[in-house]
Formats: sequence, structure tokens, C-alpha cells
Amino acid sequence: MLKATNLSKAYSVGSLGREKFYAVDNVNFEIQEREIVSLIGESGSGKTTIGKLILRLTKPTSGKIVFNDLDITMLKSLKEYYKHVQGIFQDPFSSYNPIFKVDRVFDMVREEFYPSESVNSWKEKVTGVIESIGLNPKEVLGKFPHQLSGGQLQRLLIARALLMETKFLVADEIISMLDASTRIDILNILVKLKERGLSVLFITHDLSLGYYISDKTVILYRGSIMEYGDTEKIFNNSAHPYTKMLLNSIPSLHQKWSNTDASLSGRSAPVGYCKFYDRCPLGDERCKNIELRKVEENHFAACKNV
Ligand SMILES: Nc1ncnc2c1ncn2[C@@H]1O[C@H](COP(=O)(O)OP(=O)(O)O)[C@@H](O)[C@H]1O
Ligand SMILES: [Mg+2]
Repeated sequence: MLKATNLSKAYSVGSLGREKFYAVDNVNFEIQEREIVSLIGESGSGKTTIGKLILRLTKPTSGKIVFNDLDITMLKSLKEYYKHVQGIFQDPFSSYNPIFKVDRVFDMVREEFYPSESVNSWKEKVTGVIESIGLNPKEVLGKFPHQLSGGQLQRLLIARALLMETKFLVADEIISMLDASTRIDILNILVKLKERGLSVLFITHDLSLGYYISDKTVILYRGSIMEYGDTEKIFNNSAHPYTKMLLNSIPSLHQKWSNTDASLSGRSAPVGYCKFYDRCPLGDERCKNIELRKVEENHFAACKNV
């Protein structure tokens, strides 16, 4: 359904912008229909950049993304694409204009994508999707964003995506700002939607959330994929030292890890080496130009020891 091939995104950095920093560095992955894939990585590992590339909020430096045989990196008009591919982000408040009632986000979908739909039949549809994600339309419609909770606002954004013919959802840290019980509700909504045919790229820095919800997992480190495959296999038979380190550092369910990234100390791996080289207990001269290798069926890791 969606396939990223040799996807890279470089930002210009340095005082004159002459240096290039690869936030996403030659990444390959695929997401099928009815599949939830979690993209897991520390803060700054390039997760949001991958989400933005899929949503065409930014263009790749090289490589491509193909959605149902359509190369979206080349798309001129995005309107049709956005009927099928939608994004939801960490802070639900930022998706609403505080001076308008929340109903406005639904009205705008009609005006923008379905102008021929009558106001009344649209209202019925809005009510229907709001009910389908477990909210009472009477309690939420007609309210201003500040009158609703983060969890309610986030659900309304999921409802908005459902009003379109959304087939693919980029969910970027969508529950980090919610309290624990609401988090599970939202995760369960995503699982239900998957059963109805939706695919989700679930971006998180929280391993336990990824484990809870996803069929497949991508472990990202400094813009490169360290490990990729069936979630069960990644968590129960991890092959990359980085993944193992992450899993060992989870003291309990739902705990976030602290940012221990060695890049903060100014060290980094030599060019062409595994990005984890300088932190890896097994790092040696063989850790160069390592592509993803097959560990077992539907399980790959970019490590010389595989
Ligand atoms: N517009 C930008 N210009 C320069 N650097 C950026 C820009 N956006 C992101 N970055 C850098 O790219 C890296 C990856 O960022 P991001 O994709 O937001 O990571 P994550 O979502 O995993 O925290 C970070 O080091 C960040 O500082
Ligand atoms: Mg991010």
C-alpha cells in the first residue's frame, strides 16, 4: 500500500547552511493494508520527518514514497492524496483554531473536499463518525476547543480523518499528551479502525505503546533503521544491540526512556559506519556499510552479527 525506497531527507545546517545533516538517511520500509506499523525511536531520530515526508509536508532529498502505485514525491496536486492519507499530531489543540467551535474542522472538510454534499447529509455523517469513535455528538459539537479535553479533541481529529476516505493515517505521538486511561481508549480505537481496513503509521518513543498496538515495528536510530519486522519478533527475539539496549532499559510498562543519546556528547560514528557504532559494545571495523539483513522470516536487522 505504501512503500518508502531509499528515502533520505537532509537539512542544511551550520552558520552558512553549507553542511548537510541527514535527519532521515536511506530508509526503506513498507506498510500493507490493515496494518499498524510503529515507528519507534528516541527524540530527534527522524520519526516526525518521516511522517512529514509521507504527508508531503516536506519533500525528500532523495528516494521515493509510493502509495498504491502513485509516486507521491512527484505529485503536483495533493487534494486527492489527502482524501486517503491523513495525519494526526501530538498536540491536538494545535489542529484547532481557538476562536472557532470544533465543528469547524468538519465543515472545512466538506467545503474543501466534498462541496457537492448537502449541509444536512454532512451533519448526519459527522454525527455518525463521532458516535463511532465513542463520543456523544451532543456533548462535543458546538463547543470551543478549550471546553474539551485533549482526549476528546484527539478523537474528533480521528473522526475527521474517517469522514474522508482515509486509508492511511500517520499518527505522530498522538497520545503522549493524554492521561493513561484515555491513551488506551485511543489505542483501541485505532485497532478497531484497522479492522475496518485502515493502515496506520504509529509514531512513538514509547516501546510499550508500540508493542501494544502494532503488527510491525521499525526501530529508528539517528535517521537509519536498525531493525524492522514483525513486532513479536522484534520484541521477543531482537537482533540489533540498539534494540536490545532499548528493551533492557524499560523498567516498567508505559515508562518513557530518558534521552541518553551519545550524539549529545559530540561523538559520532565515522562515515559509512552503523549509526550506533560509537555506543555499541560490539562495535568494530566490520560495522561499515551494513544494510538490513534477514534474521528470520519478516525480521531484519542492520548488524554485522546477523
Ligand atoms: N526544519 C528543520 N531544519 C533543520 N533540522 C531539522 C528540521 N526539522 C527537524 N530537524 C532535525 O532533524 C532531526 C530529526 O527530527 P524529527 O524528525 O523531528 O525527530 P523525532 O520526531 O524523532 O524527534 C533532529 O535532529 C531535528 O533537530
Ligand atoms: Mg517527533
